[in-house]
Amino acid sequence: MPLRYRPPFLFLVLVALFLSPNVRSQNSPVPYDFHGLPIRSHLADPTIEKKVDALLKQMTLEEKVGQLVQYSVGTATGPGTGRDRYDDMVEKGEVGSLYNLADVKAANYYQHIAVEKSRLHIPLINGLDVIHGYRTEFPVPLGLASTWDPQIVEKAARIAAQEASAAGVRWTFSPMVDIARDARWGRMTEGAGEDPYLGSQIARAYVRGYQGTNLSAPDSVAACAKHYVGYGAAEGGRDYNSTEISEHTLREVYLPPFYAALDEGGASIMSAFNALNGVPSTANPFTLTEVLRKEWQFPGLAVSDWTSVRELIAHGIANDGATAAFKAFNAGVDMDMQSSLYHEHLVDLVKAGKISEAQIDDAVRHVLRVKFALALFDNPYTDETRENHGALSKQSLDVAREAAARSVVLLRNEPVAGQPLLPLNRQVHSVALIGPLADDPQQMLGSWSARGQATDVLTLRTALEKCLGVDRVKYAQGGQIASATDDDIRAAVDAARASDMAILALGEDAGAMTGEAASRAHLDLPGRQEELLEKVSATGKPVVLVLFSGRPLTLNWAFTHVPAVMAAWFPGVQAGPALVGLLFGDAAPSGRLVVSWPNSLGQIPDYYNALSTGRPADNNDAANEGTHDAKYVSRYVDEPNAPEFPFGYGLTYTEFRFSTPELSAKKLSAKQLSEALRNRKADPETVMTVSANITNTGKVAAEEVAQLYVGLRGTSVEEPVRALKAFERVSLAPGETKKVTFSLTPETFALWDIHNARAVEPSRVRIWVSSDSAHGTAVEMLLTE
Ligand code: NOJ
Repeated sequence: MPLRYRPPFLFLVLVALFLSPNVRSQNSPVPYDFHGLPIRSHLADPTIEKKVDALLKQMTLEEKVGQLVQYSVGTATGPGTGRDRYDDMVEKGEVGSLYNLADVKAANYYQHIAVEKSRLHIPLINGLDVIHGYRTEFPVPLGLASTWDPQIVEKAARIAAQEASAAGVRWTFSPMVDIARDARWGRMTEGAGEDPYLGSQIARAYVRGYQGTNLSAPDSVAACAKHYVGYGAAEGGRDYNSTEISEHTLREVYLPPFYAALDEGGASIMSAFNALNGVPSTANPFTLTEVLRKEWQFPGLAVSDWTSVRELIAHGIANDGATAAFKAFNAGVDMDMQSSLYHEHLVDLVKAGKISEAQIDDAVRHVLRVKFALALFDNPYTDETRENHGALSKQSLDVAREAAARSVVLLRNEPVAGQPLLPLNRQVHSVALIGPLADDPQQMLGSWSARGQATDVLTLRTALEKCLGVDRVKYAQGGQIASATDDDIRAAVDAARASDMAILALGEDAGAMTGEAASRAHLDLPGRQEELLEKVSATGKPVVLVLFSGRPLTLNWAFTHVPAVMAAWFPGVQAGPALVGLLFGDAAPSGRLVVSWPNSLGQIPDYYNALSTGRPADNNDAANEGTHDAKYVSRYVDEPNAPEFPFGYGLTYTEFRFSTPELSAKKLSAKQLSEALRNRKADPETVMTVSANITNTGKVAAEEVAQLYVGLRGTSVEEPVRALKAFERVSLAPGETKKVTFSLTPETFALWDIHNARAVEPSRVRIWVSSDSAHGTAVEMLLTE
C-alpha cells in the first residue's frame, strides 16, 4: 500500500500539527529535489514551441548560427572578435546575444538594429553579471547565503532584476551555485558555500527573485546557473584548475543546486572552465547531454563561459578552432560566449557534414525559447526613462540593510568584566575605530558589483560617527590592506589608548583577493593587519574585530585573544548601518556559517558532510589514549580534525536549548519510499515528522536557525556522517519555547546508490535537530526492507 494513504498515520500527524504551537516552514523545509527525474520548466510551453517552429522554418543556416553567438561589448581586446562595435554583425543576424553593454541607451541602440534592420527581426538577449545587486548592492553571495534565509535572498534578487531590467538587461549570469569546500578558491565568495541542500534552497530563491512569477514581465531577467559543473572543486583551490569528482559525488554534492535552479524554472546554464575527470566541462557530453538534456530534460539555453570554447585548445583536446567549436557544440553547448569560434566555424562544420542541421536547430530552439519566454519579440525595447528608477529606494535600502544584518555571523563573544563584550553600550564614552576596511566604501561592494557605486555605500565609520557623534569616534586607518608603515600602526595604537575600547575593521581586499582569479595560498590577514590587531589588543582595551572577507580566514590568535569577532563578509551598500545596529544590539546577530571555518590551512578541504572513513578520528578519545586504536585513525598528529567553527555555526546575544527530537515514526519501509521517489507526480508526500522544542534561555529576543541533519548507516555506498536535510528560522522572545516541526519526505532519505541510481535503502538512520552541524543529540530510526 502506498505510504501516503495510510489514514491512521496521516491522522496522527495532522492532529499533532494542529495541537502544537508549531513553526511551519516558510522556506519550504520539505525537500523537493527529485534528482534523476525531469525538471519542471515553463519554457517548453506549446504556444512558445509553435512560434519557435515557425521562426526556425524561415531561418537560413547562417541566421541560425547567429543565434548561437555571443559577444561582450566594449571589450575590444582578448580573443573575442577584437572589435567593440557590433552594428554590422547584428544587422546581418550574426549575433544572438550581447553582454556588458554600458546602459539602457546602448541596449536599445543594438536592439533597434536587431529588430528593425535584421532580416527576421529577431531581438538580442542582453546579458550582464548581476551577481548580488545591480545598483543597490547586497552582501556578496556567500554573505547572502549566510542569512540562511531564502526569502531575503529572493527579495534581493527581485530588486536586482527590477533595476537591471530597467537598464535593458534581461539575462543575468547568476546564481553561481558551485559547491565550495576549499577556502583558498577565490570564488567561494560568489556562491552559497559547501552544502548541497542549503545551496539548492538558495539557488531556488535566486531564480524566483530574478525571474519573478513570469519571465515575460518586463522586470524579469533570465537566470543562469553556473558554472556547470564541479568548478568549485578546483584542485588546490587554484582557480580554473582541474577537478576529479566521482559520478557518485557529482550527483550527491555538485549537481543538486544546478538541478534545483533549473527545476525552479531557471532559463539557462553556463558551462564551466574546468576539466572534470579529464574532460573539459565545456565539451563534456556526460554532463551537458546525458544529465542535462536526457535525464533532466532541460529545455533552456546552455552558454559557454567566457572563451571557454576556445580554451579547449589550451586544455589540449583540440588543436584548432574548428575542432574546439565542434567538440563544445557536439557535447551540448548552445551558445559560444566570446570565443568567436561558433561564428567562424559552425556553418562550415554543418556543410562538411560533421554537425547536422537538426543539431543546430535544437540549439537554436534552446535560445529562442528563452527569447520568447522573455517576451522579447513583443517588447524588445526598454523604456529609457526607467533606468535607475527606484534604484536605492527606501524599500530597496531596507532590504539591503536587513540582508546585510542577517548575513553577519558572530563567531566569538567572550566576557569582558563579567559579561559578553557584545552588544556594546551606547553610553560608551569613546571608541577607536581602526583598520583599512573601516571607511573604504568600494571594498564593501565585494568583488563583483555590476553597476554598484562606492558613493552609494555607508561605511562602518560613517554609521558609527552618526550613531555616537564624531567626537566620540577616534578613527585611525592603521595602514592599507596589504601594507602599513610603523607610523600607521603607532597612530592606531594611540587612538586605542585614548579610547574606552577599539573596533577593528580588518580583512581582505575584495577586488584583488576574492572572486575570479583571486585564489590564495595563505588565509591569514594580509599585510601587517595581524600585527596591528595584536598591538591594539596589547593596549588592554576591549577589542571587537569586524572581519571583512570573501572566505573564512585562519586567525588562530584572534580566536583565542580577541573577545568579540564578527564575520561580516562584504555587506554591500548598507554595510555601516547594519553593522552598527548589530554592535549596539538593535538587532541580534542571526547569520550562520555556510562553510566550515578551518583553523589551519592544512585542514583544507574541510567540510562537515564528510564520510566516516574506516578509522574515524573520534576513536582517538580519552578512553583509548595510548592504544593502537587511538593512533591509527584518520587525523593529523599536529592538528585536530575539527574546524575552528563548524558549518551552521553562529552565536547571538542569547542562548538556545534544543530538546531531543521526537520522531512520528521509528520505522519506515525503504522499498515503499523508493517507489514513492520514482512515482513522484507532484511535490513529495510527507512520510513522517520530526519535532523539537527550542527555548530561548537568555534575556534577549533573537532568531535561531534550527537545522535538521540525517545520517544513514548500512547503505550500499558510504554516506556522510550527517547531512543537512531541512532548516527553519525561529524567532524567540526571552524565555520562550517553540516547537519546530519538520516534514520529511522520501527525498530526505534518498541517496545515489552503488549503481548511481536514486534510491532509499534499508539502513539505520540518525536524526539531529541542532544549532549547527557539530552538536545535538541524535535519535535513531530504521528504514526496513
Ligand atoms: C567569466 C566568469 O567565470 C563567469 O562567471 C562570468 O559570468 C563570465 N565571465 C561573463 O562575464
